[in-house]
Amino acid sequence: MSDNGPIAQTRRQRLFELLERGRRRDPWARAWSAVLLVLILANVTAIVAVTVPEVAARWGRLIAIFDRVCVAVFAFEYALRLWAAPEHPMLREESPASARMRFAATPLMVVDLLALVPLPLEWLFPEHAAEIRLLALVRFLKLARYSPALATIGRVVAAERRSLAACVIIFVGILLAAAAVMHVVEGAYQPKQLGDMPSAMWWATVVLTKLGGVDVVPHTTLGRLVAALAMMVGIGFFALPVAIIGRGFYDEIRRRDFVVTFGLVARVPVLSELDAATIAELVSRLQARKVSARTVIIRKGDPADALYLVASGEVQVLLDTGPVTLSDGDFFGEMALLSRGRRMATVTAKRATELLVLDARDFDRLMEGNPALAETVRRTAKTRLTANAPAAA
Ligand code: CMP
Repeated sequence: MSDNGPIAQTRRQRLFELLERGRRRDPWARAWSAVLLVLILANVTAIVAVTVPEVAARWGRLIAIFDRVCVAVFAFEYALRLWAAPEHPMLREESPASARMRFAATPLMVVDLLALVPLPLEWLFPEHAAEIRLLALVRFLKLARYSPALATIGRVVAAERRSLAACVIIFVGILLAAAAVMHVVEGAYQPKQLGDMPSAMWWATVVLTKLGGVDVVPHTTLGRLVAALAMMVGIGFFALPVAIIGRGFYDEIRRRDFVVTFGLVARVPVLSELDAATIAELVSRLQARKVSARTVIIRKGDPADALYLVASGEVQVLLDTGPVTLSDGDFFGEMALLSRGRRMATVTAKRATELLVLDARDFDRLMEGNPALAETVRRTAKTRLTANAPAAA
């Protein structure tokens, strides 16, 4: 069995597949991504380079033309994405106009739009062209679309936002406390630097962040104590957000060997009938796993812990009746989950394979909430059991 997604029937559908979904497999989509990637990097390099007077004098005109070409390509791509937006599975229920508006508000599309803005601004305000041009560095963020690693960082920051917000609150609290004490005990001696709270807060920021030479030497013992404490807290404190991000990054990388996208999940036949909200929910629940050829994914007799979907590649189910190959879009591991028993066969990767893994609890929840899907899975399990029956008999 093999599935490469429904054959795109309309031009708009095909375009959507190319731009938003099929990137990983379609050679045209890959070529287009490569062109865009090179253009973004070259454009950002040019923006940086042109701030050097010698480069501007020698290559300024050429760089300006190149910039216009880049903006034209980016604008063309933006327009195509917008035009194809009604094909997005999440937006299919909406009218084309509202689908496009909602799509335009997604973070990547906002970045794409911001990347276009500097050029017209330069025309409107030619006297500030040099400063405005630097705004175009936002184009660097366009790389998020092409770099799973950048997208990962975004996800890590989003996932850890509560811990990071807590860090900020604690930091502001410590800053306020240190500034207040210094203002009270040292304000009279050093009115310029510590005579009011904003100045004292500036002092505390410099001390806590170590981002500058401390030019205020406390006169009182209490002042020295507070300064010493603030410096020590500062050192320890900055390790905290770094550790949070580091840990989150590690978890994310381990959890997702590749990026699970809406398109990827929607393409799996057994899941394609689900409504958009359920697919979106699954995107965050499914874990991605890359396995190399001959890796044992499931071992006969083990307890069931997850359902596996083949995103790309091939696996082999080793049955007494002979091996059965499953490929893109197929699923396995459902039988032990349904029977709450043990794995009935060993499953190995035939070649390098990308899997989507749904853990047992999420599988149960999915089955409960989607009777039609549950029926398909049960029917498949029954057919497989029947097929294996002669060997069992
Ligand atoms: P489970 O028993 O959990 O683990 C091994 C899996 O192999 C099993 O679930 C099925 O998903 C799969 N499997 C078993 N028999 C067949 C078959 N005849 N054809 C395809 N897959 C099978």
